[in-house]
Amino acid sequence: MTDHPPSSGPRTPRYASSPDPRSKEVTVPRLLTMKAAGERIAAVTAYDYTFARMLDEAGADILLVGDSLGMVVQGHASTLPVTLDDVLYHCRAVARGRQRAHLVGDMPFMSWQISEGEALRNAGRFLSEGGMHAVKLEGGKSAAPTIKRLVDAGIPVMGHVGLMPQRVHAMGGFRVQGRTDNTAAQIREDAHSVVQAGAYSVVLEGVPAELAKDLSQELSVPTIGIGAGPDTDGQVLVSYDLLGLTPELRPKFVKRYAELYDAGRKATQRYIEEVRSGVFPTSEHSFRRAASPKE
Ligand code: KIV
Repeated sequence: MTDHPPSSGPRTPRYASSPDPRSKEVTVPRLLTMKAAGERIAAVTAYDYTFARMLDEAGADILLVGDSLGMVVQGHASTLPVTLDDVLYHCRAVARGRQRAHLVGDMPFMSWQISEGEALRNAGRFLSEGGMHAVKLEGGKSAAPTIKRLVDAGIPVMGHVGLMPQRVHAMGGFRVQGRTDNTAAQIREDAHSVVQAGAYSVVLEGVPAELAKDLSQELSVPTIGIGAGPDTDGQVLVSYDLLGLTPELRPKFVKRYAELYDAGRKATQRYIEEVRSGVFPTSEHSFRRAASPKE
């Protein structure tokens, strides 16, 4: 029987025998190859279809649907109020805008800690309902058994150690972690544990650059830094920060590549002025009656 290709569906062959090195799509094996080849990985957060399109088209390797959406999209003071359904809603929108990037969905507070079974069920929803390729989970050594359970079920897991924003109250604020020998040793143990459990990459957030450099050399999987200096295998930034959409936030680790909040405010002010003064709309923006009654 001839196996006719479906008229719509995956653009890559369904039964490729090995990952195609020429494939433009960023996959887990491709990310591991990038580390081995010393190619730096550029990751960025995305929360909706239009941004996903724009960031993917710009060439981002990873789009992370981060629970940072609680702060930049929903306006909360922390990521703690974000629910699983909130993140899945944003995952679906991002997946529709993606062509090439590897998609990672962030497991929100309490979506994996209660039991391994619940973690597995919730992580599975990111792939089956959210259109994600992997999940990210904030947690070190104590999260390792759960990570192993997800990986054994075929769910790629990105670890996240160092500053873990879901532990903001335990940490006493969003503070750089691992500045002393003891805390650095704890982070090292966390990072190695999650990799041993099967994580295919690890976010290192808010840690001294020297520690991040050492870990990037020690670990077999790509490290993705944020506030972790220049020597990680990749970097991630919250898209709203790098585009200048969070005017009141200027943390040291963020570089702003645009000032879109200012640009948007100024453009909207011009629109308001033109509506009020009658400059907009003109005939250029208006429709006319049909020339003949048939049209
Ligand atoms: O939620 C998020 O956006 C993140 C990244 C900043 C790493 O976890």
